Amino acid sequence: MALDFPNPTKCLLFHAPSRPMVGDSGNAPPSMSNPSTPPTSARKKCGCGNTKDPQGFCDGSHAIVGFDGKETASRQKYAGQAEMTKGPALAMADVPELCAGARFCSAKDGTWTLVEQSGNSKAAKLATEQACNCPSGRLTVYKKDGKELEPALWPSIGIVKDEATGDNGPLWVRGGIPVQSGGGETYEVRNRVTLCRCGRSANKPFCDAKHAE
Ligand code: FES
Repeated sequence: MALDFPNPTKCLLFHAPSRPMVGDSGNAPPSMSNPSTPPTSARKKCGCGNTKDPQGFCDGSHAIVGFDGKETASRQKYAGQAEMTKGPALAMADVPELCAGARFCSAKDGTWTLVEQSGNSKAAKLATEQACNCPSGRLTVYKKDGKELEPALWPSIGIVKDEATGDNGPLWVRGGIPVQSGGGETYEVRNRVTLCRCGRSANKPFCDAKHAE
């Protein structure tokens, strides 16, 4: 299930204080301690998933729940990090550090095996579907001529919940929305990325499925 934020243009991250004490007045959420909440145009989208703001903007709740937003991900581009699997009709790039644990890739013998069997049109179709269903963009699939097969995704941000396990998953950022670091640099713009909102990922700002452990 995904809850959508309307019309996002940019996803801004922030360095939340690491494990603050509840009741620490220095870290009190702005909406609780300060009635002059910044205007919408200056506000950032919630990165921890705990905001009570109906429009999904940060209300300072990360300071109460102890969300650690320190960014640790490589700044290297996706293609430079990817391991390749090659088959007769398809090739697939894989960056395991980006796995958000959605498990679409493990169906039907696994997407890697299906790519290796992609001389068979059924296997190629399944491999493409499974790779394109990956919300995190860990897996991307290519035709033999090098053409990338990406799903058409409208620019939007959703909240992922794993219905099978009941776990609250990452923010799902779709359709090429730029993600800006707390330091102001923009990460590689991609069609699909998932951003950690539990604070436990070792690859922040991206989810690495630690929310499920
Ligand atoms: S939301 Fe997946 S690791 Fe934090």
